[in-house]
Amino acid sequence: MAKITASVYTSHVPAIGAALDLGKSNEPYWQPVFKGYDFSKQWLKDNTPDVIFLVYNDHATAFSLEMIPTFAIGCAESFTPADEGWGPRPVPVVQGHPELAAHIAQSVIQQDFDLTIVNKMDVDHGLTVPLSLMCGQPQAWPCPVIPFAVNVVQYPVPSGQRCFNLGKAIRKAVESFDKPLNVQIWGTGGMSHQLQGPRAGLINKEFDNAFLDKLIADPAAAAAIPHIDYVREAGSEGIELVMWLIARGAMADVAGGPPPKVAHRFYHVPASNTAVGHLILENN
Ligand code: DHB
Ligand code: FE
Repeated sequence: MAKITASVYTSHVPAIGAALDLGKSNEPYWQPVFKGYDFSKQWLKDNTPDVIFLVYNDHATAFSLEMIPTFAIGCAESFTPADEGWGPRPVPVVQGHPELAAHIAQSVIQQDFDLTIVNKMDVDHGLTVPLSLMCGQPQAWPCPVIPFAVNVVQYPVPSGQRCFNLGKAIRKAVESFDKPLNVQIWGTGGMSHQLQGPRAGLINKEFDNAFLDKLIADPAAAAAIPHIDYVREAGSEGIELVMWLIARGAMADVAGGPPPKVAHRFYHVPASNTAVGHLILENN
């Protein structure tokens, strides 16, 4: 049977992708950001899974106000990096895993989560920047990726609790797939940031670090945080953090297993307009 072996959590920022693509990652501003991922790049080389289930949000790239799926699972053979206004990022095409994606869709929908099935989709910085942070600049990504898009852009957005419960359902789905695949689940976006309005530029280190503590040690309490608290404390775009709860809900301890091992923890401000947070949790 397939198994979720670890979860990875990381912020995404378009400027991080641009820094890499334009050869600026050694500049003093960016060096400390990328340094936080040195461990992670080696860790991913040592722990390359068969498939990454990558929870992220689209930023009005593949979707728009014309169509707003709350949860969308990418079931295609491949996904092309999107043109977000400056041309597509020069990164590899993302290879999917249609067989596992279709199985997860079947299982999760039968567990009463209504997913949108997506058979053609471009992927924006929400998906490609986490891959770049964890993999550097390879010719090809190290394994197939199942993109799982969550609407955290246009209200109404799903609650943290619903995301956490969805993670539990994804875990059951993966564990009922009849092939011995090593699967990682990544939760991306966040941490605190607000890109518009009078509070643009908001960063809240105390909230972010308390969230990391809670996510590690008491994920059920993190899941209970109401969406208004994210907006108030972490800014309007801080709501991206609910996506981390999908990954956390899929870890073994939530289903009665042992607590995960914290393989890596990193926090840095600033990177563009956001705080960068990053965790790697391994199932024991
Ligand atoms: C920034 C952060 C985001 O999460 C995003 O989607 C776009 C921009 C920023 O910090 O500039
Ligand atoms: Fe974002």
